[in-house]
Amino acid sequence: MSSRSSFARGLALVATSSLVAAGPCDLYATGGTPCIAAHSTTRALYSSYTGPLYQVKRGSDNTTTNIAPLSAGGVAEAAAQDSFCASTTCLITIIYDQSGHGNHLTQASAGAFSGPESNGADNLASATGAPVTLNGQKAYGVFIPPGAGYSNNAASGTATGDAAEGMYSVLDGTHYNAECCFDYGNAEVSSHDTGNGHMEAIYFGTNTIWGTGSGSGPWIMADLENGLFSGASTGNNPDDASISSRFVTAAVKGGPNKWAIRGANAVSGALSTYYNGTRPNASGYNPMSKEGAIILGIGGDNSPNAQGTFYEGVMTTGYPSDATENSVQANIVAAKYAVTSLTSGPALTVGSSISLRATTAGYTTRYLAHTGSTVNTQVVSSSSTTALKQQASWTVRTGLGNSACFSFESKDTAGSYIRHSAFQLLLNANDGTKAFYEDATFCPQTGLNGQGNSIRSWNYPTRYFRHFNNVAFVASNGGVDAFDATASFNDDVSWVLSTGFA
Ligand SMILES: *[C@@H]1O[C@H](CO)[C@@H](O)[C@H](O)[C@H]1NC(C)=O
Ligand SMILES: *[C@@H]1O[C@H](CO)[C@@H](O)[C@H](O)[C@H]1NC(C)=O
Ligand SMILES: *[C@@H]1O[C@H](CO)[C@@H](O)[C@H](O)[C@H]1NC(C)=O
Repeated sequence: MSSRSSFARGLALVATSSLVAAGPCDLYATGGTPCIAAHSTTRALYSSYTGPLYQVKRGSDNTTTNIAPLSAGGVAEAAAQDSFCASTTCLITIIYDQSGHGNHLTQASAGAFSGPESNGADNLASATGAPVTLNGQKAYGVFIPPGAGYSNNAASGTATGDAAEGMYSVLDGTHYNAECCFDYGNAEVSSHDTGNGHMEAIYFGTNTIWGTGSGSGPWIMADLENGLFSGASTGNNPDDASISSRFVTAAVKGGPNKWAIRGANAVSGALSTYYNGTRPNASGYNPMSKEGAIILGIGGDNSPNAQGTFYEGVMTTGYPSDATENSVQANIVAAKYAVTSLTSGPALTVGSSISLRATTAGYTTRYLAHTGSTVNTQVVSSSSTTALKQQASWTVRTGLGNSACFSFESKDTAGSYIRHSAFQLLLNANDGTKAFYEDATFCPQTGLNGQGNSIRSWNYPTRYFRHFNNVAFVASNGGVDAFDATASFNDDVSWVLSTGFA
């Protein structure tokens, strides 16, 4: 081996490691289009960033803590969250802006539409609904169910009017719905629809009211207000591909009479361009009237019915070049997003029959059972009737909505599963819909009171199986309903699993 070739290899190594070391926002800065908002609960988006990534609040005492990267430019210290949130529930209260502009995201308040909170605000996301690894290190994303959302209506440095901006976000390509609107980006400062062109945000999902792409979705589109655009106008753009990867990079950029949608698998490959052209010619979109607020998980008018998962995203000033976006995609691929376990605590075996015993003092002879379609708790013992034993026995199935979790089929009513509806647990026949699958999927965790398992809803991860007045719900700790009461929450949501009575 000549010294010349080993010198060349050394240079290549330096070039590679400095590319990996530069964060997405370093790359946008190098490209002349710096980040003016940089949000991520999973990692620092600048190579030198060591500040807080996000804040969590725990249910046991309402105190908060900040989660920072393990090292400059590194992955979030998930262990600090796990320790702070042990034996209680945790919500994400703030997603900090790493750009220095103070554009933090907090609980979205009521706009034209109200959220589920008593004051009309949206819910906060669970801190534990979206565990992943980056380069093998655990981190948590932001799992947004319908009703949750974040915003900043007083952002600074964001694009206004027809000014140019770019955005990308890394999302879960398997978590979406057809409702309006799982967005990340620029929106109205009033949380009301103030007209065409008053927002410009990344949308992800299967909404078909305005634009569509090829296949059945989900698609990356742009929410430009009063329209989700897959291309030049509302309607179908066959170039806007359906997404099937678990992790998705979604990018939208817009400037005077031009805009583009680009996307990719976030763990491999390069960005594809799904649209690259002029503004819609319907009135109001050229020029644009962007207002510069920032939203996550909701529409510009606080439409809160969509769902999705956000891992990281930024907004820039200026129209990023295709080359800059390509280098950001390479950086995201190098971060190596991967799935990790969604469950903890005593393991469940698919195909086995189980019974779930309550652990709240005074209720420990009661088991999760059903009377018709109502899921409740009943006193069951070895001397109970066969009918009651069957009502209190459940066959563990692979999760209908996510194979990393579980579904519970009735022992006496084959084809019927425990699902939640309006946050009550029901026994319903599997109707084969995506909504049923998701409402019937649960991810057991180590019991919050230290006993057995707490059975968390996959699609509403702040919610767990809870008995309340001997009826079963999916309850959130301190939520708006009576069955969400904080008193005895940990006990009411902890169940000891044993071999089924039947
Ligand atoms: C936390 O705050 C909520 C809302 O203010 C309140 O209802 C709840 O009782 C508090 N919990 C504790 C443990 O202080
Ligand atoms: C987008 O369109 C512009 C203007 O026509 C062109 O310069 C650019 O190369 C296009 N980008 C892609 C990725 O197609
Ligand atoms: C508006 O744009 C659409 C899609 O590009 C095009 O089909 C239509 O002809 C345009 N209308 C006018 C009036 O320019």
